[in-house]
Amino acid sequence: MRRPWLAANWKMYKTVPESLAYAQELWHLLSDIKGWDQALDLAIFPNALALWPFAEKWAATAIGIGAQNLDPGTEGALTGGTSGFLLREAGARFVIVGHSERRKYFGETDEIVRTKTEAALEAGLGPIVCVGESQDERRQGETLKVVHRQVRQAIETLEPSHVRRVTIAYEPVWAIGSGLVPTPEEVARVAEAIRADVADLAGSEARDQIRILYGGSVNDQNLLSFLDTPDVDGALIGGAALNAANLAKMARRIMDRDPLMKSGQ
Ligand code: 13P
Repeated sequence: MRRPWLAANWKMYKTVPESLAYAQELWHLLSDIKGWDQALDLAIFPNALALWPFAEKWAATAIGIGAQNLDPGTEGALTGGTSGFLLREAGARFVIVGHSERRKYFGETDEIVRTKTEAALEAGLGPIVCVGESQDERRQGETLKVVHRQVRQAIETLEPSHVRRVTIAYEPVWAIGSGLVPTPEEVARVAEAIRADVADLAGSEARDQIRILYGGSVNDQNLLSFLDTPDVDGALIGGAALNAANLAKMARRIMDRDPLMKSGQ
């Protein structure tokens, strides 16, 4: 069974001390939620500067740690670069690749996203590849076409055994930070199409194992409507996860919805 996953993308927020204080508070709040670490995965994606101190303190716990971006390669004369290898050495286990903000503000193309996905896997990181349509593309009825292209471009050159280690986050660009969300039915349609693409590229085992997250204006009120969608396994949360109490509330919502979760079954 795929475990539900809450992933908190802090974007360019929080200093190192603020990051550590958040983790301390989160840990304290999670300790009141019996069995959460047996039933769901939870990961924080702080600023790269906070990775090392964060991992030093929290890597041995059930709080997962990831980076928000990587540069391809291992090491070398690449001024300003941060490779997957360096991120992993600093404690990251996951990395977000191709977030729409990187596509928009840093010029990341599908080709670059593919290179970064490959580099993440080579470095031993679990990539979370972000895909999603813009408002215009949605209006033109191109959602599935855009997602299909982005998914294929990111993973079509990978070995099936590598594809299984990829997570896909469906984040409609228009839903990010806007308070607007697609209906659970719309999300279900896209997630189903993503699984079909994965099956086509890497086989049915990869289709069944790969995790799909929904992202875009998720909060503790709407979280379960997305998680109850059969093909969706979790959420990639921005603004609402900047507060430790909110993230803990979301973990509690998942634990409370299903009594079996409480016993970790
Ligand atoms: P918001 O939850 O703030 O809409 O951000 C979503 C996001 O971009 C997560 O990667």
